[in-house]
Amino acid sequence: MRELRERRDSLHRNTLAGGHAAVERQRASGKRTARERLDLLLDEGSFVELGLHRRQLPTGPLSPRERPRTDGVVVGSGTIEGRQVFVYAQDFSIFGGSLGEAHAAKIHKVMDLALETGSPLIGLNDSGGARIQEGVMALHGYGGIFRRQVAASGIIPQISVVLGPCAGGATYSPALADFTFMVRDIAKMYLTGPAVVKAVTGEHVSHEELGGAGVHGESSGVATFVYDDEPGCLEDVRHLVSLLPSNNMELPPRSAASGADTDVRPRLAEIVPADPAKPYDVRDVIAEVTDDGAYFELHEGWAANIVCAFARVDGEVVGIVGNQPIVLAGVLDADAAQKAARFVRFCDAFGIPLVTLVDVPGFLPGSEQERGGIIRHGAKLLYAYCEATVPRVQVILRKAYGGAYIVMDSRSVGNDLSLAWPTNEIAVMGAEGAVDILFRRELATVDDQRELRAELLAHYNEQLIHPYYAAERGLVDDVIDPAETRSLIAKGLAMLRDKRRQPFRRKHGNMPL
Ligand code: HXC
Repeated sequence: MRELRERRDSLHRNTLAGGHAAVERQRASGKRTARERLDLLLDEGSFVELGLHRRQLPTGPLSPRERPRTDGVVVGSGTIEGRQVFVYAQDFSIFGGSLGEAHAAKIHKVMDLALETGSPLIGLNDSGGARIQEGVMALHGYGGIFRRQVAASGIIPQISVVLGPCAGGATYSPALADFTFMVRDIAKMYLTGPAVVKAVTGEHVSHEELGGAGVHGESSGVATFVYDDEPGCLEDVRHLVSLLPSNNMELPPRSAASGADTDVRPRLAEIVPADPAKPYDVRDVIAEVTDDGAYFELHEGWAANIVCAFARVDGEVVGIVGNQPIVLAGVLDADAAQKAARFVRFCDAFGIPLVTLVDVPGFLPGSEQERGGIIRHGAKLLYAYCEATVPRVQVILRKAYGGAYIVMDSRSVGNDLSLAWPTNEIAVMGAEGAVDILFRRELATVDDQRELRAELLAHYNEQLIHPYYAAERGLVDDVIDPAETRSLIAKGLAMLRDKRRQPFRRKHGNMPL
């Protein structure tokens, strides 16, 4: 007992991690310690630590004289709003949070337990990367993390929170996670740091410019969420977990019904201007159709021409995908397609119904997009919708043209319920372009084109462009009063709640990556 007490006392001092000086350095750089972070993340008193005694074995002349316990990572289980999660938090005050054999083995242990118990996994990253003194064993440790992440993908939600450096191959852990959180100023993610960049390419670039939260939240799309401080970030990790099922065998957590099925929202018709050229913020529509007007948006700063968000409708968690007319008129481009594709696939893997709000003029034309692989990236979104077996409700708010109409969860790619507002325009293309292509010769033969043109435009609009054309052919289930949108989405979701569709058995498809 005396030995146990002594060890516990000494381990208690471990709350100071790598010692006063290292912890002070951590604080001076605006960061909290691993244990302070876990206190913010988990329900009070719920943390059960594993592997506290673990430390690095002496490995040779290069190995550090000190062998601090925990080996630079605090791991275990805890709860968030009473539901179990597994966590690891790298401790930068010990060997710069670098990952060696013992450190990796501790992470592997909680990853295995998370998968086997069907609990979300949350990793708090703050690390100098592979522990240089441990050579290939450090690399081997990373490989074991990546392999486990892939094995657990689609079975348990995986969340990566970057709260310090995350360099080299270590970046592939956040990249493989379902959601990556970053905090401005303290989080940096890059494959090669500024010094290597300068040596190899001659480019001078700061840590922040190379891999700060701004870069990954707005340009690369690696970060799903970006925050100004750690408490705000960890609070939102808790919020995200509260919206997700613990694993793919569980239903997403429901809250009490909100009466959405009888809720009439006249404001919806005012939000969306009838003139298809006039922009509006689709998030105002989302706030009208979701419970309490609340939604949790992913990738707010990246590919903002499409909005992806979790929300509740009548207490049920849904994934909302909406074209955003205030950014690039809501066109689909390569980034938007990738953003929405990954979101659709997450929702489908975890049984979260999809609500798709369509107002799309088409794909973004141009050589930049073609060279950037819009065909390949657009195909990802198409693939994701075609494959999804969760309940799928499509609402066409205003216009839906061409290939972009098909991709945005049209009937042909498998939606279960399609609702259209009466002001809809659904067609291969708008009237002007169509008339130019179809009647070029006829228009060329007349002296005054205006009259004929006006007539042809009127015909086109009358015959093809309205939603009843699609409704008569069964591509739209109903043309609805916009005010009924919320209630009909709620009723549709209730109708589809027990939907089961089994895909054919195969090893896996070959989605265009
Ligand atoms: C061992 C490391 C370490 C590492 C940092 N430390 N990184 N120890 N292996 N990879 C130690 C430092 O020696 C130092 O120890 C302490 O951690 C704090 O580091 P500082 O440099 O003082 O901190 P700071 O100035 O904040 O700089 C942080 C840093 C820098 C930018 C992360 O430490 C750095 O560049 N480290 C190396 C990063 C790197 O190249 N890692 C390998 C990437 S490749 P003392 O004893 O002085 O406190 C990789 C491959 C993964 O990770 C492959 C996966 C497949």
